[in-house]
Amino acid sequence: MPEERIITPSEKNSASALRATADKEDKVFDVTLRPTSLLEYFGQQPIKDNLLIFMAAAKQRKEPIEHVLLYGPPGLGKTTLAHIIAREMGVNIRVTSGPAIERAGDLAAILTNLQDGDILFIDEIHRLNKVIEEVLYPAMEDYALDIIIGKGPSARTLRLDLPKFTIIGATTRYNLLSSPFRDRFGATWRLDYYNFPEIEQILKRSSRILNIDLLEEAAKLIARRSRLTPRIANRLLKRVRDFAQVKGNGQITTELAGEALKLMAVDNQGLDYLDRRILEAIIEKFKGGPVGLNSVAAAVQEEEGTIEEIYEPYLMQLGFIMRTPRGRVVTELGYKHLGLVAPAELQNKLL
Ligand SMILES: Nc1ncnc2c1ncn2[C@@H]1O[C@H](COP(=O)(O)OP(=O)(O)OP(=O)(O)O)[C@@H](O)[C@H]1O
Ligand SMILES: [Mg+2]
Repeated sequence: MPEERIITPSEKNSASALRATADKEDKVFDVTLRPTSLLEYFGQQPIKDNLLIFMAAAKQRKEPIEHVLLYGPPGLGKTTLAHIIAREMGVNIRVTSGPAIERAGDLAAILTNLQDGDILFIDEIHRLNKVIEEVLYPAMEDYALDIIIGKGPSARTLRLDLPKFTIIGATTRYNLLSSPFRDRFGATWRLDYYNFPEIEQILKRSSRILNIDLLEEAAKLIARRSRLTPRIANRLLKRVRDFAQVKGNGQITTELAGEALKLMAVDNQGLDYLDRRILEAIIEKFKGGPVGLNSVAAAVQEEEGTIEEIYEPYLMQLGFIMRTPRGRVVTELGYKHLGLVAPAELQNKLL
């Protein structure tokens, strides 16, 4: 068993502040700050370039857009983009999620209620059950549903025509989708982490909407700790605002932002305690790797899925760990971040 480690309140605080997944509070906040047009949707330029052509072509042909799959770590703007696409196309969007569609009948009810051109947004599409997935194939390809009526030898299938709709699927776990399913999307776009200037733009826009007096340098500081994720940037902004209101006169200065972030135990790269524990565990218990995901998960007592979906992508983005065919390895930068010196044999491990 891995040794117990006591988690301090500030570590817990940082864990919640830096988690990219939405909590209850975010749900309301996300909606208030959600951009409604491509002009206000900062960053993700390659996707936006493709999307503009994709939408213009469909409009010229007077056809609905092809099915779109959006994937990438939580909080980067998948749901936001789906709503923007619907708005720019001037169509309705119906929202559901993989786990919400339990039976083929649920799916049939949703699909038959759509109108031509409508978008069906399926969040967490990797959690759709396999039976439903197969019912969806002809619906996606031929706008038809094959329904089985009756049982045993007298059973027969009935083909039901559907409106010409578009599915936009969103997932944080692209690798969990089967390849026949992936192939049925006309466009698949991966959302990437943002860069600092983009996050600063997002912070400035949010502070305008929320009437927050945010100084330029303070925005830079918050951006640097945001894990390059809009949802986290907005959440940090909100926490810093509270701090500035109580400790200062409301204006967010660099000093106040710095103090607030320190209180949240966010380090200068936006790592929280679990990121650091992951790095430490690989180094201390597995000699820096290579090590399998399941061993890392056991060592830090966290679910594999959470590590793979939330923590690992950001640690890889920073170049602190690498995925090799034999498992995860901490890189020289990773050692450096913890104030350690990488072992001499590290180069061989990265091959
Ligand atoms: N490109 C962007 N420009 C400005 N704000 C953004 C952008 N992308 C996301 N946001 C902000 O971040 C919040 C979270 O984005 P969103 O809910 O779309 O993420 P998501 O990828 O769907 O996350 P999840 O995987 O948890 O569902 C939005 O409400 C919005 O305020
Ligand atoms: Mg979402």
